[in-house]
Amino acid sequence: MLRIASAALLTAALLMPTTSMAQNLDPIKERKKILKSFGDATKAPGKMLKNEETFDLAKVKAALKTYQEGTAKLPALFPDDSKTGGDTEALPAVWEKKQDFEGLYKKLGEDAKKAEEAITDEISFLEEFPKVAANCGGCHKIYREKK
Ligand code: HEC
Repeated sequence: MLRIASAALLTAALLMPTTSMAQNLDPIKERKKILKSFGDATKAPGKMLKNEETFDLAKVKAALKTYQEGTAKLPALFPDDSKTGGDTEALPAVWEKKQDFEGLYKKLGEDAKKAEEAITDEISFLEEFPKVAANCGGCHKIYREKK
């Protein structure tokens, strides 16, 4: 019995690093997934800004959380060996101006955190959310290929 249990443990221990390695091996897929989640999270607030959807504080806060969590992970998902392939839209500028690029993620995260505190109702949403969203286009203009 004991031997079976330790064999199972060993198998689990051997399998675990393999899975995390597999994730590291595909940073393009991983970063696209996070950035797509940014796009999805931004849809509802975007419509609220245009008055096409009723203001919903919970959805706004959820989007701001998504940005904060994602921007913490994104800088690490642009390693030197991920400049091409996997349908990436990242421009070479990402690696040429790495510090500036990573700084823009940091700024988005910080702006999202500030907005999370500042936004309490529709008025503050209309005031604060566009400042956060300006970070998206600001970075895409320089670092993302237009297709
Ligand atoms: C610091 C730079 C930066 C910021 C800030 C940024 N993005 Fe991006 N975004 C990129 C880059 C680079 C890509 C291309 C990634 C790739 O294809 O490898 C991208 C891709 C995307 C994609 C396409 C994902 C896919 O499915 O391929 C969406 C959607 C997106 N961003 C939305 C957003 C939204 C919404 C925000 C703001 C909340 C935002 N991004 C903020 C750099 C940024």
